[in-house]
Amino acid sequence: MPQLEVNVDHIATLRQARLIDEPDPVTAAALAELAGADGIIVHLREDRRHIQDRDLRLLRQTVKTRLNLEMAATPEILAIALEVKPDLVTLVPEKRQELTTEGGLDVARYKAPLKDYIKELQSAEIYVSLFVDPKAAQIEVAKAVGADCVELHTGTYAEAITVAEAETRFQELLTAARQAQQLGLKVKAGHGLNYRNIKRFQGRTEFAEYSIGHSIIARAVLVGIERAVREMAALINP
Ligand code: PXP
Repeated sequence: MPQLEVNVDHIATLRQARLIDEPDPVTAAALAELAGADGIIVHLREDRRHIQDRDLRLLRQTVKTRLNLEMAATPEILAIALEVKPDLVTLVPEKRQELTTEGGLDVARYKAPLKDYIKELQSAEIYVSLFVDPKAAQIEVAKAVGADCVELHTGTYAEAITVAEAETRFQELLTAARQAQQLGLKVKAGHGLNYRNIKRFQGRTEFAEYSIGHSIIARAVLVGIERAVREMAALINP
């Protein structure tokens, strides 16, 4: 059965809008787990625009499912990951000016440094996922640098305007997922997935997990986080 990891960054975005102590992403994570989330994701960005170091450290103590730390492959965040030891990390590209992660990590370009970086994380028993575009060359290199998993960037699928374009982008995701599976990589999908576009994934065995943040938190603001998580989980496993 495919699983659902819930990203709680935007609970922290709301908190940071006032620079006070609520709402707390640690509380949101606990409620998401009670509602059936299989994992909790946070992105500790270099500019700390939403998740703070304190959130990560507390989540390490409280998350009962698994904690997925999204991070840029920098020395500062590596040191934090090695100390806090999340269950897994997802390496993503990061730009200060972006509103959210804009594209997959160019693993082909950073092959040599990534290999060492991944080895260091794995030697601390941290499972490593790479967030990549659904492109054959990127997936091949992801395997070559020793990743355990790839998370396929679903952004172009989510942003498709016509039904025909969405179908084309979805087929690209399927092809990439099958290639990664054949190479022995675990396959996840994420970015821009919502309560409508997730339906095309129903019944697909190519994807082991979905990483979803914004649409769940946006719904949670109106209907509560437990209901929002349950409704997404029900769409993933109808
Ligand atoms: N996966 C990765 C690697 C991401 O960077 C993000 C955004 O933080 C997500 C999944 C979740 O995307 P969204 O918030 O659009 O659901």
